[in-house]
Amino acid sequence: MRTVPLGNTGVQVSVFCLGTMYFGSSTDATTSYQLLDQYVEAGGSFLDTANIYARWVPGYVGGESEILLGRWMRERNARSKLFLASKVGFEMPGVRRGLRASQIEEECEKSLKRLGVDTVDLYYAHCDDCNTPVEETMEAFDKLVKAGKIRFIGASNFSAWRLEEARWVSQTHGWAEYCCIQQRYSYVRPKPGANFDPQVAANEDLLDYCKTRGITLLAYSPLLRGAYTRSDRPFPEQYVGPDTEARVAVLKAVAEEKRATANQIVLAWMIHSEPCVIPLVAASTTDQLRENLGALNIALGVDDMVRLNNASA
Ligand SMILES: NC(=O)c1ccc[n+]([C@@H]2O[C@H](COP(=O)([O-])OP(=O)(O)OC[C@H]3O[C@@H](n4cnc5c(N)ncnc54)[C@H](OP(=O)(O)O)[C@@H]3O)[C@@H](O)[C@H]2O)c1
Repeated sequence: MRTVPLGNTGVQVSVFCLGTMYFGSSTDATTSYQLLDQYVEAGGSFLDTANIYARWVPGYVGGESEILLGRWMRERNARSKLFLASKVGFEMPGVRRGLRASQIEEECEKSLKRLGVDTVDLYYAHCDDCNTPVEETMEAFDKLVKAGKIRFIGASNFSAWRLEEARWVSQTHGWAEYCCIQQRYSYVRPKPGANFDPQVAANEDLLDYCKTRGITLLAYSPLLRGAYTRSDRPFPEQYVGPDTEARVAVLKAVAEEKRATANQIVLAWMIHSEPCVIPLVAASTTDQLRENLGALNIALGVDDMVRLNNASA
């Protein structure tokens, strides 16, 4: 699988990151193993999890995805070949929401234990915390980097100005800086004023900021849970905006020309974007993942990209 730079870290990562949010909960262990094997067979090595996955699924408390990944990595002896990302910040049973130093330290230890590893390659602030001084948060992350418990840090669900504030604090003190931002992002755009709280969608301002600072954008929920191709999955109401119809029409036209599916064009469009956007590719069946990985073989020319980018009402 093609690799791309992760921000300014000097490290290359797989252009598709595998989202493992439901592994070990809604997606049973056998299927989760099949999906992990399938992704690795396709040459992928970038896995995304979080301490809270998937605490909202009835019967689960969070940590199940990390535990499953830990077991699978041990059984496959795969740790050294992988680039592993996890997150801290959202609430889960026994843990309050926030980015206090004590919380970052404690949650990192728990994640390392569940994953059965010494180091997490990329550790995200899963959400912003305006009640904790930025200095406290960034220093805590920096200490984990210095201790070798994490290699790089990223942010998720942040606004551009808060990312810049964090960058300034880190640079002032010589601490680790956020190298990437993981945000809600798809091909159709949210309608003006759409609210996803506690999630934050990428907007033009953030894209501009990332480009200027060399920060990588990772797109979560890129396929809107299948809405591009499934009649049982209407677009969430936040996406039913003035240009949704026009964008879906161009997407479907390009898909037909390329003999591809709309899902594949969404993912191909992201990795052909300049700078490249890394999608968090998720699936709950091997057929879905096969389709999604097929996007790696789609070539979009400059004309295709211009058409896709410019589609609006
Ligand atoms: N940082 C954050 O706050 C945040 C938030 C959300 C997610 N994430 C990360 O992003 C990853 C992806 O998020 P997501 O699950 O919301 O992504 P998504 O792309 O919106 O949805 C994935 C789901 O779409 C359906 N699907 C996938 N491929 C399909 C296909 N080819 N045809 C039809 N349906 C298909 C499946 O739903 P069914 O299972 O129903 O079939 C699959 O579980 C997560 O695993 C997690 O790592 C991060």
